[in-house]
Amino acid sequence: MQIQENISLKPYNTFGINVKAKYFSSFATIDELTELLSYYRPKGQDSRLILGGGSNILFTKDFDGIVLKNGLKGIELIKEDDKFYYVKAAAGEIWHEFVLYCIEHNYAGVENLSLIPGSVGASPMQNIGAYGVEIKDVFEELEAYHIHDKSILTFSLEECGFGYRESVFKKKFKDQFVILNVTYKLRKQPQYNTTYGAITKELEKEGVKELSIKNISDTIINIRKSKLPDPKVVGNAGSFFKNPVVSKFRWHFIWEQYKDVSAYMIDDMHYKIAAGWLIEKCGWKGFRKGDAGCNPLQALVLVNYGNSSGQEIFDLSEEIIQSVKRKFGVELEREVNII
Ligand code: FAD
Ligand code: EPU
Repeated sequence: MQIQENISLKPYNTFGINVKAKYFSSFATIDELTELLSYYRPKGQDSRLILGGGSNILFTKDFDGIVLKNGLKGIELIKEDDKFYYVKAAAGEIWHEFVLYCIEHNYAGVENLSLIPGSVGASPMQNIGAYGVEIKDVFEELEAYHIHDKSILTFSLEECGFGYRESVFKKKFKDQFVILNVTYKLRKQPQYNTTYGAITKELEKEGVKELSIKNISDTIINIRKSKLPDPKVVGNAGSFFKNPVVSKFRWHFIWEQYKDVSAYMIDDMHYKIAAGWLIEKCGWKGFRKGDAGCNPLQALVLVNYGNSSGQEIFDLSEEIIQSVKRKFGVELEREVNII
Protein backbone atom coordinates (compact mmCIF):
# COMPACT_ATOMS: atom_id res chain seq x y z
CA MET A 1 0.00 0.00 0.00
CA GLN A 2 1.53 3.21 -1.18
CA ILE A 3 0.20 6.76 -1.29
CA GLN A 4 1.01 8.62 -4.50
CA GLU A 5 0.80 12.40 -4.82
CA ASN A 6 -0.42 14.59 -7.69
CA ILE A 7 -1.13 11.75 -10.08
CA SER A 8 -3.23 11.91 -13.25
CA LEU A 9 -6.62 10.18 -13.02
CA LYS A 10 -6.85 9.74 -16.81
CA PRO A 11 -6.24 5.96 -16.66
CA TYR A 12 -8.79 5.63 -13.86
CA ASN A 13 -11.93 7.05 -15.51
CA THR A 14 -13.58 5.75 -18.69
CA PHE A 15 -14.27 9.32 -19.91
CA GLY A 16 -10.47 9.64 -20.05
CA ILE A 17 -10.52 13.04 -18.35
CA ASN A 18 -7.07 14.26 -17.45
CA VAL A 19 -7.40 15.68 -13.94
CA LYS A 20 -5.07 15.18 -11.01
CA ALA A 21 -5.66 13.68 -7.59
CA LYS A 22 -3.79 15.22 -4.69
CA TYR A 23 -3.37 11.76 -3.14
CA PHE A 24 -4.09 8.31 -4.57
CA SER A 25 -3.87 4.83 -3.13
CA SER A 26 -5.49 1.44 -3.51
CA PHE A 27 -6.50 -1.00 -0.80
CA ALA A 28 -6.66 -4.79 -0.98
CA THR A 29 -7.80 -5.51 2.59
CA ILE A 30 -10.12 -3.93 5.16
CA ASP A 31 -7.09 -3.22 7.37
CA GLU A 32 -5.50 -1.23 4.55
CA LEU A 33 -8.74 0.69 4.05
CA THR A 34 -8.88 1.48 7.79
CA GLU A 35 -5.27 2.60 7.76
CA LEU A 36 -5.79 4.86 4.75
CA LEU A 37 -8.91 6.41 6.24
CA SER A 38 -7.18 7.20 9.52
CA TYR A 39 -3.95 8.32 7.87
CA TYR A 40 -5.81 10.88 5.84
CA ARG A 41 -8.50 12.83 7.68
CA PRO A 42 -10.01 15.33 5.28
CA LYS A 43 -11.94 18.41 6.40
CA GLY A 44 -14.62 18.44 3.72
CA GLN A 45 -17.06 15.67 2.80
CA ASP A 46 -15.91 15.58 -0.81
CA SER A 47 -12.20 15.19 -0.18
CA ARG A 48 -12.32 11.40 -0.21
CA LEU A 49 -13.43 9.34 -3.20
CA ILE A 50 -13.94 5.58 -3.33
CA LEU A 51 -13.18 4.51 -6.86
CA GLY A 52 -14.13 1.36 -8.72
CA GLY A 53 -13.67 1.28 -12.49
CA GLY A 54 -14.38 5.01 -12.91
CA SER A 55 -17.10 4.23 -15.48
CA ASN A 56 -19.86 6.33 -13.97
CA ILE A 57 -17.90 9.45 -13.06
CA LEU A 58 -17.21 12.78 -14.74
CA PHE A 59 -14.30 14.67 -13.18
CA THR A 60 -14.74 18.41 -13.79
CA LYS A 61 -11.69 19.55 -11.81
CA ASP A 62 -8.60 18.28 -10.00
CA PHE A 63 -9.49 16.21 -6.95
CA ASP A 64 -8.24 17.98 -3.85
CA GLY A 65 -8.24 14.94 -1.58
CA ILE A 66 -7.53 11.24 -1.56
CA VAL A 67 -8.79 8.77 -4.16
CA LEU A 68 -9.05 5.23 -2.77
CA LYS A 69 -9.15 2.58 -5.46
CA ASN A 70 -10.96 -0.55 -4.41
CA GLY A 71 -8.80 -3.65 -4.83
CA LEU A 72 -10.78 -6.13 -2.68
CA LYS A 73 -10.90 -9.46 -4.51
CA GLY A 74 -12.58 -12.85 -4.18
CA ILE A 75 -15.69 -14.76 -5.28
CA GLU A 76 -17.22 -17.44 -3.08
CA LEU A 77 -20.29 -19.69 -3.16
CA ILE A 78 -21.50 -19.27 0.42
CA LYS A 79 -24.64 -21.43 0.42
CA GLU A 80 -27.28 -23.00 -1.76
CA ASP A 81 -30.85 -24.23 -1.44
CA ASP A 82 -33.29 -25.94 -3.82
CA LYS A 83 -33.61 -22.96 -6.09
CA PHE A 84 -30.66 -20.66 -5.57
CA TYR A 85 -26.92 -20.30 -5.30
CA TYR A 86 -25.80 -17.49 -2.99
CA VAL A 87 -22.58 -16.05 -4.34
CA LYS A 88 -20.54 -13.44 -2.50
CA ALA A 89 -18.22 -11.26 -4.56
CA ALA A 90 -15.73 -8.72 -3.24
CA ALA A 91 -16.30 -5.12 -4.29
CA GLY A 92 -13.09 -4.80 -6.31
CA GLU A 93 -13.95 -7.65 -8.68
CA ILE A 94 -14.64 -6.52 -12.25
CA TRP A 95 -18.38 -6.77 -12.91
CA HIS A 96 -18.22 -8.34 -16.37
CA GLU A 97 -15.66 -10.91 -15.19
CA PHE A 98 -18.05 -11.80 -12.39
CA VAL A 99 -20.85 -12.25 -14.96
CA LEU A 100 -18.63 -14.55 -17.03
CA TYR A 101 -17.74 -16.51 -13.87
CA CYS A 102 -21.46 -17.00 -13.15
CA ILE A 103 -22.13 -18.18 -16.69
CA GLU A 104 -19.25 -20.64 -16.49
CA HIS A 105 -20.63 -22.05 -13.21
CA ASN A 106 -24.27 -22.08 -14.42
CA TYR A 107 -25.41 -19.46 -11.92
CA ALA A 108 -28.31 -17.76 -13.72
CA GLY A 109 -29.64 -14.23 -13.40
CA VAL A 110 -26.89 -11.79 -14.34
CA GLU A 111 -26.48 -12.75 -18.03
CA ASN A 112 -28.57 -9.76 -19.20
CA LEU A 113 -26.12 -7.50 -17.37
CA SER A 114 -23.17 -8.64 -19.48
CA LEU A 115 -20.50 -6.16 -20.55
CA ILE A 116 -21.50 -3.39 -18.14
CA PRO A 117 -18.16 -1.82 -17.20
CA GLY A 118 -17.08 -1.23 -13.62
CA SER A 119 -16.79 -3.08 -10.35
CA VAL A 120 -19.00 -5.38 -8.27
CA GLY A 121 -18.92 -2.79 -5.45
CA ALA A 122 -20.50 -0.11 -7.60
CA SER A 123 -23.25 -2.41 -8.94
CA PRO A 124 -25.68 -1.61 -6.08
CA MET A 125 -24.74 2.11 -6.01
CA GLN A 126 -27.10 2.93 -8.83
CA ASN A 127 -28.81 -0.48 -9.07
CA ILE A 128 -27.23 -1.12 -12.47
CA GLY A 129 -29.62 -2.33 -15.09
CA ALA A 130 -29.86 -3.41 -18.70
CA TYR A 131 -32.11 -5.44 -20.97
CA GLY A 132 -34.93 -5.90 -18.48
CA VAL A 133 -32.84 -6.86 -15.41
CA GLU A 134 -31.57 -4.79 -12.50
CA ILE A 135 -29.28 -5.67 -9.58
CA LYS A 136 -32.27 -5.63 -7.25
CA ASP A 137 -33.60 -8.74 -9.08
CA VAL A 138 -30.60 -10.84 -8.05
CA PHE A 139 -29.59 -9.10 -4.84
CA GLU A 140 -29.41 -10.87 -1.49
CA GLU A 141 -27.36 -8.55 0.76
CA LEU A 142 -24.20 -6.47 0.97
CA GLU A 143 -21.64 -5.54 3.58
CA ALA A 144 -20.51 -1.95 3.87
CA TYR A 145 -17.90 -0.22 5.98
CA HIS A 146 -19.03 2.92 7.76
CA ILE A 147 -16.34 5.52 7.09
CA HIS A 148 -16.81 7.43 10.35
CA ASP A 149 -17.35 4.78 13.02
CA LYS A 150 -15.49 1.99 11.17
CA SER A 151 -18.23 -0.57 11.77
CA ILE A 152 -19.28 -3.09 9.13
CA LEU A 153 -23.03 -3.20 8.49
CA THR A 154 -25.14 -5.64 6.49
CA PHE A 155 -27.81 -4.19 4.18
CA SER A 156 -30.77 -6.27 3.03
CA LEU A 157 -32.67 -5.70 -0.22
CA GLU A 158 -35.21 -3.44 1.51
CA GLU A 159 -32.50 -1.46 3.30
CA CYS A 160 -30.74 -0.60 0.04
CA GLY A 161 -33.78 1.37 -1.21
CA PHE A 162 -33.24 0.37 -4.84
CA GLY A 163 -35.04 2.30 -7.55
CA TYR A 164 -34.37 3.10 -11.19
CA ARG A 165 -30.61 3.95 -11.14
CA GLU A 166 -30.97 4.72 -7.39
CA SER A 167 -30.06 3.37 -3.96
CA VAL A 168 -29.57 4.76 -0.45
CA PHE A 169 -25.82 4.87 -1.18
CA LYS A 170 -26.29 7.39 -4.00
CA LYS A 171 -28.36 9.89 -2.00
CA LYS A 172 -29.24 9.38 1.71
CA PHE A 173 -25.93 7.72 2.68
CA LYS A 174 -23.79 9.39 0.01
CA ASP A 175 -20.06 9.23 0.88
CA GLN A 176 -20.75 7.47 4.19
CA PHE A 177 -20.05 3.84 3.28
CA VAL A 178 -17.53 1.76 1.40
CA ILE A 179 -19.26 -1.26 -0.08
CA LEU A 180 -17.04 -4.27 0.72
CA ASN A 181 -18.87 -7.16 -0.90
CA VAL A 182 -22.20 -8.09 -2.44
CA THR A 183 -24.05 -11.41 -2.18
CA TYR A 184 -26.17 -12.30 -5.21
CA LYS A 185 -28.99 -14.83 -5.29
CA LEU A 186 -28.61 -16.73 -8.54
CA ARG A 187 -30.99 -19.28 -9.99
CA LYS A 188 -30.29 -22.97 -10.49
CA GLN A 189 -32.98 -23.07 -13.19
CA PRO A 190 -32.61 -20.06 -15.46
CA GLN A 191 -35.58 -17.78 -16.13
CA TYR A 192 -34.70 -16.35 -19.50
CA ASN A 193 -35.55 -12.73 -20.05
CA THR A 194 -35.53 -12.05 -23.77
CA THR A 195 -38.45 -9.67 -24.11
CA TYR A 196 -36.50 -6.44 -23.97
CA GLY A 197 -35.59 -4.50 -27.11
CA ALA A 198 -33.69 -6.30 -29.82
CA ILE A 199 -32.78 -9.52 -27.94
CA THR A 200 -35.26 -11.85 -29.68
CA LYS A 201 -34.49 -10.41 -33.12
CA GLU A 202 -30.75 -10.73 -32.53
CA LEU A 203 -31.10 -14.35 -31.27
CA GLU A 204 -33.04 -15.21 -34.45
CA LYS A 205 -30.45 -13.49 -36.61
CA GLU A 206 -27.74 -15.57 -34.97
CA GLY A 207 -29.76 -18.76 -35.56
CA VAL A 208 -30.00 -19.61 -31.85
CA LYS A 209 -32.44 -22.53 -31.45
CA GLU A 210 -32.02 -23.40 -27.79
CA LEU A 211 -31.66 -20.68 -25.18
CA SER A 212 -28.87 -20.74 -22.62
CA ILE A 213 -27.45 -18.12 -20.29
CA LYS A 214 -24.29 -18.19 -22.43
CA ASN A 215 -26.02 -17.39 -25.71
CA ILE A 216 -28.14 -14.67 -24.11
CA SER A 217 -24.95 -13.13 -22.75
CA ASP A 218 -23.25 -13.36 -26.18
CA THR A 219 -26.27 -11.75 -27.85
CA ILE A 220 -26.37 -8.89 -25.38
CA ILE A 221 -22.65 -8.34 -25.82
CA ASN A 222 -23.22 -8.06 -29.61
CA ILE A 223 -26.11 -5.60 -29.23
CA ARG A 224 -24.17 -3.45 -26.80
CA LYS A 225 -21.07 -3.41 -29.01
CA SER A 226 -23.19 -2.25 -31.95
CA LYS A 227 -24.33 0.96 -30.29
CA LEU A 228 -22.25 1.80 -27.23
CA PRO A 229 -18.76 3.21 -27.81
CA ASP A 230 -15.88 1.23 -26.31
CA PRO A 231 -14.33 3.50 -23.65
CA LYS A 232 -10.89 2.22 -24.66
CA VAL A 233 -11.48 3.87 -28.05
CA VAL A 234 -13.76 6.84 -27.25
CA GLY A 235 -14.14 8.14 -23.70
CA ASN A 236 -17.63 7.85 -22.22
CA ALA A 237 -19.58 6.75 -19.15
CA GLY A 238 -22.55 5.04 -20.79
CA SER A 239 -25.91 6.82 -20.55
CA PHE A 240 -25.22 10.33 -19.34
CA PHE A 241 -28.84 10.97 -18.33
CA LYS A 242 -31.65 8.87 -16.89
CA ASN A 243 -34.72 8.14 -18.99
CA PRO A 244 -37.25 10.62 -17.58
CA VAL A 245 -40.56 9.54 -16.09
CA VAL A 246 -43.28 12.03 -17.09
CA SER A 247 -46.99 12.42 -16.47
CA LYS A 248 -49.43 10.82 -18.88
CA PHE A 249 -50.49 14.36 -19.89
CA ARG A 250 -46.93 15.42 -20.78
CA TRP A 251 -46.46 12.21 -22.76
CA HIS A 252 -49.74 12.77 -24.61
CA PHE A 253 -48.81 16.37 -25.39
CA ILE A 254 -45.53 15.13 -26.95
CA TRP A 255 -47.24 12.20 -28.72
CA GLU A 256 -49.74 14.54 -30.38
CA GLN A 257 -46.86 16.24 -32.17
CA TYR A 258 -44.50 13.28 -32.57
CA LYS A 259 -46.24 9.99 -33.14
CA ASP A 260 -42.85 8.23 -33.16
CA VAL A 261 -42.07 9.17 -29.54
CA SER A 262 -40.12 6.32 -27.92
CA ALA A 263 -41.86 5.75 -24.59
CA TYR A 264 -43.68 3.15 -22.54
CA MET A 265 -46.32 3.20 -19.85
CA ILE A 266 -45.10 2.79 -16.24
CA ASP A 267 -48.53 2.96 -14.61
CA ASP A 268 -51.91 4.57 -15.33
CA MET A 269 -50.54 8.07 -14.85
CA HIS A 270 -46.89 7.86 -15.92
CA TYR A 271 -44.72 7.16 -18.95
CA LYS A 272 -40.98 6.66 -19.27
CA ILE A 273 -39.58 8.42 -22.34
CA ALA A 274 -36.29 7.44 -24.00
CA ALA A 275 -33.95 10.34 -23.23
CA GLY A 276 -31.94 9.32 -26.33
CA TRP A 277 -35.02 10.03 -28.45
CA LEU A 278 -35.60 13.46 -26.84
CA ILE A 279 -31.94 14.40 -27.32
CA GLU A 280 -31.90 13.18 -30.92
CA LYS A 281 -35.08 15.16 -31.71
CA CYS A 282 -33.36 18.28 -30.40
CA GLY A 283 -30.65 17.75 -33.03
CA TRP A 284 -27.75 16.78 -30.76
CA LYS A 285 -27.01 13.30 -32.09
CA GLY A 286 -23.52 13.34 -33.62
CA PHE A 287 -22.89 16.92 -32.40
CA ARG A 288 -19.27 17.74 -31.61
CA LYS A 289 -17.68 20.84 -30.10
CA GLY A 290 -13.92 20.51 -29.68
CA ASP A 291 -13.44 17.01 -28.28
CA ALA A 292 -16.77 16.89 -26.41
CA GLY A 293 -19.64 15.30 -28.27
CA CYS A 294 -22.92 13.44 -28.43
CA ASN A 295 -22.46 9.88 -29.70
CA PRO A 296 -23.67 9.46 -33.33
CA LEU A 297 -25.10 5.96 -32.65
CA GLN A 298 -26.77 6.52 -29.26
CA ALA A 299 -27.57 10.11 -28.35
CA LEU A 300 -27.83 9.33 -24.62
CA VAL A 301 -24.07 8.80 -24.46
CA LEU A 302 -21.81 11.85 -24.27
CA VAL A 303 -18.26 11.28 -25.43
CA ASN A 304 -14.72 12.56 -25.13
CA TYR A 305 -12.97 12.28 -28.50
CA GLY A 306 -9.57 12.74 -26.85
CA ASN A 307 -8.70 15.86 -24.98
CA SER A 308 -11.99 17.25 -23.76
CA SER A 309 -12.10 18.59 -20.23
CA GLY A 310 -14.75 17.36 -17.87
CA GLN A 311 -16.10 20.90 -17.65
CA GLU A 312 -16.63 20.99 -21.45
CA ILE A 313 -18.62 17.75 -21.28
CA PHE A 314 -20.57 19.08 -18.32
CA ASP A 315 -21.32 22.33 -20.23
CA LEU A 316 -22.54 20.30 -23.21
CA SER A 317 -24.81 18.28 -20.89
CA GLU A 318 -26.22 21.55 -19.54
CA GLU A 319 -26.99 22.81 -23.07
CA ILE A 320 -28.73 19.50 -23.83
CA ILE A 321 -30.80 19.71 -20.64
CA GLN A 322 -31.90 23.26 -21.50
CA SER A 323 -32.82 22.46 -25.10
CA VAL A 324 -34.84 19.35 -24.13
CA LYS A 325 -36.65 21.45 -21.53
CA ARG A 326 -37.44 24.20 -24.05
CA LYS A 327 -38.68 21.82 -26.74
CA PHE A 328 -40.51 19.20 -24.68
CA GLY A 329 -40.97 20.67 -21.19
CA VAL A 330 -39.09 17.64 -19.79
CA GLU A 331 -36.24 17.99 -17.29
CA LEU A 332 -33.41 15.50 -17.84
CA GLU A 333 -31.50 14.28 -14.79
CA ARG A 334 -27.83 13.29 -15.04
CA GLU A 335 -27.09 9.65 -14.28
CA VAL A 336 -23.31 10.09 -14.16
CA ASN A 337 -21.71 11.22 -10.87
CA ILE A 338 -20.24 14.70 -11.29
CA ILE A 339 -17.10 15.21 -9.21
P1 FAD B 1 -17.19 4.22 -10.41
O1 FAD B 1 -17.42 5.05 -11.62
O2 FAD B 1 -15.79 3.98 -9.98
O3 FAD B 1 -17.99 4.87 -9.18
C1 FAD B 1 -19.34 5.27 -9.34
C2 FAD B 1 -19.83 5.80 -7.99
O4 FAD B 1 -19.88 4.76 -7.04
C3 FAD B 1 -18.89 6.86 -7.37
O5 FAD B 1 -19.69 7.78 -6.66
C4 FAD B 1 -18.02 6.06 -6.43
O6 FAD B 1 -17.52 6.83 -5.34
C5 FAD B 1 -19.02 5.01 -5.94
N1 FAD B 1 -18.39 3.73 -5.59
C6 FAD B 1 -17.75 2.88 -6.43
N2 FAD B 1 -17.39 1.77 -5.77
C7 FAD B 1 -17.80 1.92 -4.49
C8 FAD B 1 -17.72 1.13 -3.31
N3 FAD B 1 -17.14 -0.07 -3.31
N4 FAD B 1 -18.26 1.61 -2.17
C9 FAD B 1 -18.85 2.83 -2.13
N5 FAD B 1 -18.96 3.63 -3.21
C10 FAD B 1 -18.45 3.18 -4.37
N6 FAD B 1 -24.77 1.32 -16.10
C11 FAD B 1 -25.94 0.64 -16.07
O7 FAD B 1 -26.64 0.63 -15.05
N7 FAD B 1 -26.39 -0.06 -17.16
C12 FAD B 1 -25.70 -0.10 -18.32
O8 FAD B 1 -26.12 -0.74 -19.28
C13 FAD B 1 -24.45 0.61 -18.38
N8 FAD B 1 -23.73 0.62 -19.52
C14 FAD B 1 -22.56 1.30 -19.58
C15 FAD B 1 -21.82 1.28 -20.77
C16 FAD B 1 -20.61 1.95 -20.87
C17 FAD B 1 -19.84 1.90 -22.16
C18 FAD B 1 -20.12 2.65 -19.75
C19 FAD B 1 -18.79 3.35 -19.82
C20 FAD B 1 -20.85 2.70 -18.56
C21 FAD B 1 -22.07 2.03 -18.47
N9 FAD B 1 -22.85 2.03 -17.29
C22 FAD B 1 -24.02 1.32 -17.24
C23 FAD B 1 -22.41 2.81 -16.11
C24 FAD B 1 -21.38 2.08 -15.22
O9 FAD B 1 -20.81 0.99 -15.90
C25 FAD B 1 -22.03 1.57 -13.92
O10 FAD B 1 -22.62 2.62 -13.22
C26 FAD B 1 -21.02 0.85 -13.03
O11 FAD B 1 -21.67 0.20 -11.97
C27 FAD B 1 -19.97 1.80 -12.44
O12 FAD B 1 -19.00 1.03 -11.80
P2 FAD B 1 -17.58 1.60 -11.43
O13 FAD B 1 -16.88 0.59 -10.59
O14 FAD B 1 -16.87 2.03 -12.66
O15 FAD B 1 -17.98 2.86 -10.55
N1 EPU C 1 -33.39 6.23 -29.06
C1 EPU C 1 -33.45 7.17 -30.05
N2 EPU C 1 -32.28 7.80 -30.38
C2 EPU C 1 -31.09 7.52 -29.80
C3 EPU C 1 -31.05 6.57 -28.77
C4 EPU C 1 -32.22 5.92 -28.41
O1 EPU C 1 -34.51 7.44 -30.61
O2 EPU C 1 -30.09 8.14 -30.19
C5 EPU C 1 -34.64 5.53 -28.67
C6 EPU C 1 -34.96 4.35 -29.60
O3 EPU C 1 -36.34 4.35 -29.83
C7 EPU C 1 -34.61 3.15 -28.75
C8 EPU C 1 -34.91 3.66 -27.33
O4 EPU C 1 -34.53 5.04 -27.38
O5 EPU C 1 -35.40 2.06 -29.06
C9 EPU C 1 -34.14 2.96 -26.24
O6 EPU C 1 -32.75 2.94 -26.56
P1 EPU C 1 -31.79 1.80 -25.97
O7 EPU C 1 -32.40 0.46 -26.14
O8 EPU C 1 -30.43 2.02 -26.53
O9 EPU C 1 -31.79 2.06 -24.43
P2 EPU C 1 -31.74 3.39 -23.56
O10 EPU C 1 -33.08 3.59 -22.96
O11 EPU C 1 -31.16 4.52 -24.33
C10 EPU C 1 -31.16 2.15 -21.36
C11 EPU C 1 -30.17 2.30 -20.25
C12 EPU C 1 -28.86 1.67 -20.65
C13 EPU C 1 -29.08 0.19 -20.92
C14 EPU C 1 -30.10 0.06 -22.06
C15 EPU C 1 -30.49 -1.38 -22.32
C16 EPU C 1 -30.77 4.27 -19.00
C17 EPU C 1 -30.43 5.67 -18.66
N3 EPU C 1 -29.99 3.68 -19.91
O12 EPU C 1 -30.70 2.94 -22.44
O13 EPU C 1 -27.95 1.78 -19.56
O14 EPU C 1 -27.89 -0.45 -21.30
O15 EPU C 1 -31.31 0.78 -21.70
O16 EPU C 1 -31.26 -1.83 -21.26
O17 EPU C 1 -31.70 3.71 -18.43
C18 EPU C 1 -26.30 3.19 -18.58
O18 EPU C 1 -27.03 3.27 -17.59
O19 EPU C 1 -25.16 3.74 -18.64
C19 EPU C 1 -26.74 2.42 -19.75
C20 EPU C 1 -26.04 2.32 -20.87
